[in-house]
Amino acid sequence: MKILITGICGFTGSTLAREWLSSEENLTIYGVDNLIRPGSEYNRAMLQKLGIKLFHGDIRAASDFEMLPSADWVIDAAANPNVLAGIDGRASTRQLIEHNLMGTVNMLEYCKRHAAGFILLSTSRVYSIAALAGVALEQRGESFRLTPGQMFPQGLSEAGWPRHSSTAPPVSLYGSTKLASEVLALEYGEAFGFPVWINPVASWPGQDSSAGLIRDICLLD
Ligand SMILES: NC(=O)c1ccc[n+]([C@@H]2O[C@H](COP(=O)([O-])OP(=O)(O)OC[C@H]3O[C@@H](n4cnc5c(N)ncnc54)[C@H](O)[C@@H]3O)[C@@H](O)[C@H]2O)c1
Repeated sequence: MKILITGICGFTGSTLAREWLSSEENLTIYGVDNLIRPGSEYNRAMLQKLGIKLFHGDIRAASDFEMLPSADWVIDAAANPNVLAGIDGRASTRQLIEHNLMGTVNMLEYCKRHAAGFILLSTSRVYSIAALAGVALEQRGESFRLTPGQMFPQGLSEAGWPRHSSTAPPVSLYGSTKLASEVLALEYGEAFGFPVWINPVASWPGQDSSAGLIRDICLLD
């Protein structure tokens, strides 16, 4: 099986690549990254040592996809994942949309061309801010947990956010680019007959890790 991971030098992309190569046989991983994220340069050498073929490319540029080999699955881990992106002055709103939404379109066009499956690493940020803001949290060690015994908004439970929670705006500019990517991905998959999976990258006690979940999905094929 051949997998293309976009944003492979980032936190999620590099973790998935490393974990899969240590646990799966007959797997070829290609990666593409524009190294825009401070720190992704450090992961490049590590990934190359693992035998991963890396391409320096930008998912915003459709022509950068022309040089990529054909893969069975694309994992989308390239993004500006900052919830304040587009409003904090570090990236413009247009840049955020180009990275997170137009980049998705280019990946979907690649999937259409190569009949590849698509896995979108989305975010719990696609859910309505108002509902989230009303949830009581308590600090345990270095993490926040849902305060037990409270009335949860519809869709939320101690197990997390199921997919039928409200995604009504506002969800943040960042969240809206991911939500729009989700919708487009599902439409492309339906229209052109390739599989699409959306992973919210949220881990909750008792759930599989994202890496495990995505690996299981790919190996179903
Ligand atoms: N890490 C988490 O806990 C978490 C939580 C929720 C959602 N996500 C989602 O997972 C995905 C990856 O997040 P992350 O935390 O690994 O981010 P990250 O910033 O660590 O990694 C992103 C990688 O993508 C690359 N990149 C950015 N723009 C690019 C472009 N235009 N072309 C090519 N490469 C580009 C960066 O250089 C970086 O290596 C995002 O879509 C994010 O929304 C992650």
